[in-house]
Amino acid sequence: GPKTVDYNNMPGYNYDEAKIPPYELLDPQRMADGKPVTTPQQWWTQRRPEIVKLFEDNIYGRTPAAAEQAPVRVESVEGRTPALDGLAYREQVDLIFGPAPKPGSHTAWRMRVLLYLPARATGPVPVIFGLNGGGNQSVVDDPGIKPTDIWVSEDEQAPHPETPGADTRGSQSTQWQVKTVLSRGYGLATAYYQDLEPDAKDQRANSVRALFDAPGTVSAPNEWGAVAAWAWGYRKAVAYLRSNPAVDAAHVAVTGHSRLGKAADWAAATTPEIGALLSTESGKGGQSIQRRELGETVKHLAEKFPHWMCPAYATWINRDQQIPADGNMLLSLVAPRPLYAASANDDRWADPKGEFLALRSAATTYTLLGTSALPPDTAMPAVDRPIGTDTNTAYHIRSGKHDVTAFDWQRYLDFLDTRWGAPVHR
Ligand code: GCU
Repeated sequence: GPKTVDYNNMPGYNYDEAKIPPYELLDPQRMADGKPVTTPQQWWTQRRPEIVKLFEDNIYGRTPAAAEQAPVRVESVEGRTPALDGLAYREQVDLIFGPAPKPGSHTAWRMRVLLYLPARATGPVPVIFGLNGGGNQSVVDDPGIKPTDIWVSEDEQAPHPETPGADTRGSQSTQWQVKTVLSRGYGLATAYYQDLEPDAKDQRANSVRALFDAPGTVSAPNEWGAVAAWAWGYRKAVAYLRSNPAVDAAHVAVTGHSRLGKAADWAAATTPEIGALLSTESGKGGQSIQRRELGETVKHLAEKFPHWMCPAYATWINRDQQIPADGNMLLSLVAPRPLYAASANDDRWADPKGEFLALRSAATTYTLLGTSALPPDTAMPAVDRPIGTDTNTAYHIRSGKHDVTAFDWQRYLDFLDTRWGAPVHR
């Protein structure tokens, strides 16, 4: 059967706060040449582009202009249909990115978006979008969901596409809380991440990345990786949602967990149309501090998941303390939009304290831009005690394991209610 890895007890990794090698936290408000950033104008025109480039050159790679500009064809799979015992309307569309699939490639060059809208809505609604890891049918038990094939493999190598079995329907419903989201007046939209790229090394040919190859881009040090391809999928989904008249275009939030949190973080950082980020345990290579050597390392990420980041990422192996783009800088790119970063207490691999420190450091950019944020002297809160929820930078460390739970979703919805106003419904 599949080997299970206990990421919280990996031999050879440091889990001890006292044994973290010395490191310097990067300063989002200090230019590469050492000059301090003192005005919003300097942030927008100089420092922010500089940080984006550091991430493109060292972490996620550069998304080709052709991919950003690519026209997307929206094909209805199912029009507005009552669903979930009257709680919702369901819509399903395919976003078509490319021509007919390459023979034998198994990929259809499309992403299937499942959208639930609250039936009690009186107008366009705020929507939360997130890529899912189990197939659309896994997010809630609803026989009307038309899933794409899911890519399966036991060891994250050589996956193959399979029609999802009936047992997978609603198998991730606790992670998604679809009915809670709808009953609070929000829409919920999702798509299967492996529609964009199968999550295994050497799957580039089956990735949307293969649609946008140009001379000199393949294997360049800053070639985009799978995380950037998933982030691109976030961007395309959000663009579609904002074009849907049932959606309140100014209020589309994104969420993601773990590896998909990394994708959601990068998407929110680079997509101004994304209205808020709800980032769950995106860990190292996401919202945590890679320079803090606790839990996962650059070496593990680069070697276990070589397809996730750009080729240049591997040059930082065993040099975690020198990495030039880190989680606090990533989150600072989301400013001044509402940002909620969430950790879990038993998720040592992701380094919850690093996630907190990143959020707290990113908050300084919110302050620079004149919006409310956690003060820089804020202490790490106790478990299950959200902080900063009355500002644009919220954080909690939930009790329990690496997961997404009802607690996380309730706090996210409370936060959006406060930042955007609770959705009006009948
Ligand atoms: C592994 C990986 C993490 C990632 C996680 C997940 O643990 O090392 O970086 O976040 O998988 O996606 O669940």
